Amino acid sequence: MVLRLASSYMSIPQTPRTSTSLSQRVPLRKPGKMWKRGCTRRLDILPSLNGDGPGLRVFVLSDLHTDYSENMMWVECLSTAKHKRDVLLVAGDVAETYNNFVLTMSLLKERFKHVFYVPGNHDLWCRRESDVSFSSLEKLEKLLDACKRLGVKTDPMVIGSLGIIPLLSWYHESFDREEDITSFRIPPLEMACKDYHACKWPEELSNRDTSLASYFDAMNENNMDLIEDIKKTCEQIITFSHFVPRQELCPEKRMLFYPNLPKIIGSDSLEVRLRSIHGAEGSGSACHVFGHTHFCWDAVLDGIRYVQAPLAYPRERKRRMNGGENWLPFCIYSDGEFAERLSPCYWSDYYSVNPRQPRNTELAPWVARFYSQRKDHNT
Ligand SMILES: [Fe+2]
Repeated sequence: MVLRLASSYMSIPQTPRTSTSLSQRVPLRKPGKMWKRGCTRRLDILPSLNGDGPGLRVFVLSDLHTDYSENMMWVECLSTAKHKRDVLLVAGDVAETYNNFVLTMSLLKERFKHVFYVPGNHDLWCRRESDVSFSSLEKLEKLLDACKRLGVKTDPMVIGSLGIIPLLSWYHESFDREEDITSFRIPPLEMACKDYHACKWPEELSNRDTSLASYFDAMNENNMDLIEDIKKTCEQIITFSHFVPRQELCPEKRMLFYPNLPKIIGSDSLEVRLRSIHGAEGSGSACHVFGHTHFCWDAVLDGIRYVQAPLAYPRERKRRMNGGENWLPFCIYSDGEFAERLSPCYWSDYYSVNPRQPRNTELAPWVARFYSQRKDHNT
C-alpha cells in the first residue's frame, strides 16, 4: 500500500492511545484466460514431507516491497536451510519492478519447498518497467509466467491434508460503508494512491466502480473445479488474497492519517468468495490470510480466522512493537494444527476489547494533531 502525499498518512502510532489514463488501450481479456492454464485439470495433492522429520509447516508473509534494498536484504537473509520442508504463502506486493519480483521469488523458492503467490497492486505497477508499453493485465500475465518457470504455485492445491487456495482480487471504493470524515479536507484518492497513475487498465476497468474487483474475482471462477475438490477433500483450508475482505479488518477512519484508506483496500466479492469456500459460518479450521494495509492482524470474525503478517516498509517496521525481523514469516500452521494467535497485534488486539464505532467521526488525538499541524504549516 502506498499513498502518494506523505508517508506519514499511512502511519499509525505503535499502540492505540485509548484504553479502550490509460496510456494505451488494450483489448479486454476474458476474465481468467491468463489465470487458467489448460482445460481440464486434476487437483494436485502434494506430500508434505521429504522423508522423515517434522510435519508440514505453513508460513505466511505479505507486502515484501523488495524495491527497498533493506527488504530485499531481509529476504536474502532468510535461512537457506531452516525452511527446506516448509510452505510459504506470499500474499502480494512483492515488488514494483519485474526484475525485483523475479529475484525475490527466486530467493524464496531457494529457501522454501513450496511457495504460493497472489498478486498485489504494486506488483501490477507499470511505471518503472524498461518496457513501459505493457499494461497491468499484461504484467499480470508476465508475473504468472515467471511463477510457472520458477515453480511458484498460483493455483489451488492440497499439501498433505491441508487445502491451500490463492484468491485473486482488487479493491473498489464502495467497499467502504462507514461514515466519512468531513471535518478537514482529505486529499482525493487519485492524489493519495499511486495505483491511479502507476497501473494501466483498459477503459472498461476502474477502481471507481466495481468493474476491476469483479474482473479479478471472475478469474477465480476458473479454479472452482479445483476448489470444489479441495472442499470435498480437506477439513482444513487456508485461503489467501492480497486485498482485504472485510472493513472490520482495518482501523476505523478516525484512527487513520488517511481516513479514506478503506476506499482503496478491499472487495466485497472477495468475502463472498471465501465464504463460499469456508462456509457462511466458518469453522475452527477456516483461515484467510490477506495483506495490503500493512497492519498486523489476527482475529476471528463470524467463524473465520483472518491474519495479516506484512513485512511492510522499513520505516513502518521500525515503529512496530513486534518489528518484523524475528517473527516473520509467521508460522500459521504446524503439524496439523493452526498456530496460536499472533501476539502482540495492535489493532486486532484493540478491537478485541473495544467495539467498533463506524458512525463516530471524532478524530483520534494523533490524527487531529497531524492535521492541525498541517493546517498551521499551510497558513
Ligand atoms: Fe498492496
